Amino acid sequence: MIWNELKKPFLILAPMEGVTDVIFRQVIASSGRPDLFFTEFTNVSSYASLKGRENALERLATVPTDKPIIAQIWGKNPEHFGETVAALKKLGFSGVDLNFGCPDKNVNRAGGGAAMIKTPELAISCFKEAKSHTSLPVSIKTRLGWSDINEFKTWLPVLLSEHPAALTVHLRTKKEMSKVPAHHELIPDILSLRVKISPKTKLIINGDIKDKANAMKLHQKYPEVDGFMIGRGVFSNPYCFTDHTPTKDELMKLLYLHLDLYEEYIKTHSASYEPLKHFFKIYINNFPGASDLRAKLMETHSTEEARAILAQQTAISRTRLSDDGTPI
Ligand SMILES: Cc1cc2nc3c(=O)[nH]c(=O)nc-3n(C[C@H](O)[C@H](O)[C@H](O)COP(=O)(O)O)c2cc1C
Repeated sequence: MIWNELKKPFLILAPMEGVTDVIFRQVIASSGRPDLFFTEFTNVSSYASLKGRENALERLATVPTDKPIIAQIWGKNPEHFGETVAALKKLGFSGVDLNFGCPDKNVNRAGGGAAMIKTPELAISCFKEAKSHTSLPVSIKTRLGWSDINEFKTWLPVLLSEHPAALTVHLRTKKEMSKVPAHHELIPDILSLRVKISPKTKLIINGDIKDKANAMKLHQKYPEVDGFMIGRGVFSNPYCFTDHTPTKDELMKLLYLHLDLYEEYIKTHSASYEPLKHFFKIYINNFPGASDLRAKLMETHSTEEARAILAQQTAISRTRLSDDGTPI
């Protein structure tokens, strides 16, 4: 069982829609891998429908380098949870995670994500249905509550009473989105709930943990926490799961790897170039001329155009670097 194989404190790359796809996970696996990956969330009713299955399966694509990996799913229909999880083992996943924390309006209107906090009975039905349709461990990712941080005192016990294999708590309410600092001060209270109700459930803390050093500090303070999940930290440092501070060259190499992987992907999928642009700021950041270069890249329409601009830039910076004024 994957959750028992991970050494404490383990580090996880948070599921992030539009970010932690199969391509970006390969980039992170090559820079400094976490102990465990999660997919972006996939809708169970989409998987359960004829029309949506192909797209759902694309979202659930994995490669050997992003293992071990957990499939994250969301929805509100218990039967669809059952149907989806039944397929996941064959797809190479080590576990399945139920998203009970997403604050997106469309997701919540559809009754999924954080809306589950307001319908605990339905949440438990979805969990039970998922558990009864797979031998994979089933975990849950959620928030403290819908609008008041004190809701965790009743909401987390509801979940822990079902003994999920792991519980990730993003230390904010749905209403707080990501606008206030995560409530790290509540970790001791959450740990006591876990000990009292479900001591075998692995507890993962998430929210404002930006890198490994940050996680290790929290580990020293709260050694009972099993794992830490890092989300947006990866935007400011794709090496955030290591102690390494990357050089500009290393970041550029990652950008080229991302371009290579994306080019391959576009050949076989109906993907457009535009979403790739969201990633440029991760690699082109914090060096002289970074914002100008980024602005130029944002004007591009293809990986070829992006490569041409990068080649030009490399030539310019080499010229600047040479002592005698000649390119090196
Ligand atoms: C762009 C973006 C997409 C996200 N998508 C998901 C998702 O698909 N599933 C999920 O459980 N959480 C999702 N989240 C929430 C993150 O997993 C994480 O809980 C949140 O960013 C807080 O962690 P952090 O402070 O380390 O970023 C997303 C967050 C961001 C910024």
